Order: sequence, then structure tokens, then C-alpha cells
Amino acid sequence: MSIGHFRLWSSLVLSLVLWSNTITSDAAIGSGYLRKIREVNKLGPYLGIVVPNMFEMDPLLHSDRFVPDSRTTSLDIMGKRFRIGKVGNQKVILVMTGLSMLNAGITTELLLTLFSLEGVLHYGIAGNANPNLQIGDVTIPEYWAHSGLWNWQRFGSGPNNPLALESNGDFTREIGYLRFANYSITPSSDNFLNNVWYQPEEIFTVDGSPEVREHIFKVPVDSRYLEVAKMVEKQGVTLERCVNSSLCLPRPPAAATVAMGVSAGVFVDNRAYREFLSAKFNATAIDMESAAVALVCHQQRTPFIAIRALSDLAGGGSAVSNEADAFAPLAAENAVRVLLSFIAALSSSSSLAK
Ligand SMILES: *[C@@H]1O[C@H](CO)[C@@H](O)[C@H](O)[C@H]1NC(C)=O
Ligand SMILES: *[C@@H]1O[C@H](CO)[C@@H](O)[C@H](O)[C@H]1NC(C)=O
Ligand SMILES: *[C@@H]1O[C@H](CO)[C@@H](O)[C@H](O)[C@H]1NC(C)=O
Repeated sequence: MSIGHFRLWSSLVLSLVLWSNTITSDAAIGSGYLRKIREVNKLGPYLGIVVPNMFEMDPLLHSDRFVPDSRTTSLDIMGKRFRIGKVGNQKVILVMTGLSMLNAGITTELLLTLFSLEGVLHYGIAGNANPNLQIGDVTIPEYWAHSGLWNWQRFGSGPNNPLALESNGDFTREIGYLRFANYSITPSSDNFLNNVWYQPEEIFTVDGSPEVREHIFKVPVDSRYLEVAKMVEKQGVTLERCVNSSLCLPRPPAAATVAMGVSAGVFVDNRAYREFLSAKFNATAIDMESAAVALVCHQQRTPFIAIRALSDLAGGGSAVSNEADAFAPLAAENAVRVLLSFIAALSSSSSLAK
């Protein structure tokens, strides 16, 4: 915590200098805002809650478990609204990112830079690649990977040829690849699209050396948060089963910790790719933000976990309707129910530890 606070204050001082020098009045975090941020932080640390879209945040905002702060309900900073409040006894700051990796990354970075946080919870809906789970189930993966950083190999080269810039250490053949020719409808030996090779992210951790890169593909969630998630899974959470009186899921949905989630700036609605992600990475949840939040928290050494409710079998092909349209509201509601159970379990495990 002390390192976190030192980092927070030093970054605030730095930010003050940067903002006052470089940002024009329109985009400015004025001194009034910095004073408010300091006031908010005096009551911290908070749990940051990072949410992709408004339809996913709404069930939390409308739940009677979320109580906005009576003094500062929200701060609007650099295009983001930070909502301050409590869930039970837990102080929280909520923020919506918007779609995809860049939004998720910059919003998380801003949250961690401005506010005194003890950890980050991320939640939302996701596509499903795991045939053992059902729409409506809420997954909590142990690892998250960015599956959209590729080295696209030229036609004519194969697994035995080094990739472009591999010898510099920029790219690697360690993680594996997708071969387009394997997905032809009529058998074919080759495809001009050839192979794409999955790459780890290049990261610069707060306790590493600046400008000295490290690499990571599978980002682990916080181990204590994962224990709490397993407790929640074991206790069970009552989840919504029906969209309306005529559309219900075959069995009551459940919360489940799983091995892996993957994210990229790609909406996956394709069965062949879903099956590849499952076979290659043992992926269950497929989304467009979690790995970005995970990577930022990992670089900043801030505890992190993500809760993602399955809204559709990515690419279709299940007995129940596979329309994200129909099940997204149910999935968003179920994600919030698991989030609330998680926060309650975390609070009681923290008070036990004290
Ligand atoms: C492509 O298909 C072949 C034949 O089924 C298989 O041996 C190989 O592992 C596949 N390659 C990739 C990269 O998926
Ligand atoms: C894949 O993940 C599931 C949980 O999501 C786990 O039970 C299973 O052992 C994993 N399989 C492999 C091959 O790692
Ligand atoms: C239930 O929801 C589905 C999906 O949105 C819709 O197609 C159907 O008309 C609804 N049925 C009723 C009775 O409201």
C-alpha cells in the first residue's frame, strides 16, 4: 500500500505539473478537480470497478446495493465519469471504458493514476468458447491473454522459418499460430493468408527498469481474489434464468472459475475461430477488454480479477438461441450478481484477515 500511495502522490504531483503546462482549459483537470481528487483519496483506498458499456453498468447503478457518495457522487475527467460510492462497507469507484482494448487500457491507467486503489474488479458480458458452459453462466478466468497481437507470416514461409524481426527478440514462435489453409471448406494445401503467430505483450512494470521490456502472454489474476472467487463459486449465486416468461435457459446458470479468457479488438461471431481459441488456449470467455485491464493492472502491480457472464456461444450452433441480443441483458444482470457476491465475500475475508 505504501508503494502504491507513494506512486499515487508522486504521479499526482507529476500530473499537476504536466497538466498545468500542457493542457488547455478545455481538457484540463483544473486545480479544483485536483483538490476534489485529493478529498476523495483521503477516504480511500477504493476498489476500482471497470465496466465496458452502460448496459453492463446499469444493473449495478440500479441495484440498491450501490450507494453513491453523498459528497462527491462523480467526477468527470478527460472524457470519463468516475462514480464514487459504496457497495456494502466497501468503498468503490466505478468507471465505464467504452468498447475495446484501447479504451479499456487508457481508462484503467487513468483510474490507477488518479485514485487511491486497493484493487480492480472488471466485469461485463462475453462470448463463450467452452462447450461445457451455457449462456447465462458467469465465468471468472484464472488467466487473461491478448489474442490480437500477431506476426502475420509471409506466404511461402512455415513453422520452421523465423518470423520477421524474430531475431531481434521482438517476435516469437513460442505461443503458436493459426494456419488459414486448415479452415478451407474444400480441402486445400495452402492459402495466401498463410499463418498468423500469436505474440506476447511487451510490458514495462512499475518495479522494472524503464525502457527495459518484459513479455507476457497469459496474465494471471490476483491469487487472493481468485481464492475469493472460488469461495463464491462453491457457495453458489442465485442467477437469472429467464429473459421473459417464454424464453428460459435449460438449467439455472452458475458462477464458474475457468482456466482462461482471451480479448482482442475483434468481435468473434465465428464458430471455427471460437473452436480454435478453445483448442489452442483452452479459452472460455472471449471479449474485447479484459486482457487490456489485466495488462495495465499487472504492469502497475495492482490486484485484479474479471467477472464475465456468457451472453452467446460465439459463432452460434447451440440448442438455445445464440443471439447476444436476446441474452445480453440477462448476462449483464448475472455478471452484477456475481460481482456483488464477490465484493461481499472479499469484504468478509478482509475483515477476517484483520
Ligand atoms: C492444421 O491441420 C493439420 C492437419 O489436421 C494439423 O496437423 C495441424 O496441427 C494444424 N495446424 C494448425 C496450426 O492448426
Ligand atoms: C481447460 O480449462 C478447464 C477449466 O476451464 C480445465 O478444467 C481443464 O483442465 C483445462 N484443460 C487443459 C488441457 O488445460
Ligand atoms: C421473450 O424474449 C424474446 C427475445 O428477446 C422475444 O423474441 C420474445 O418475443 C419474448 N417473449 C415474450 C412473451 O415477451
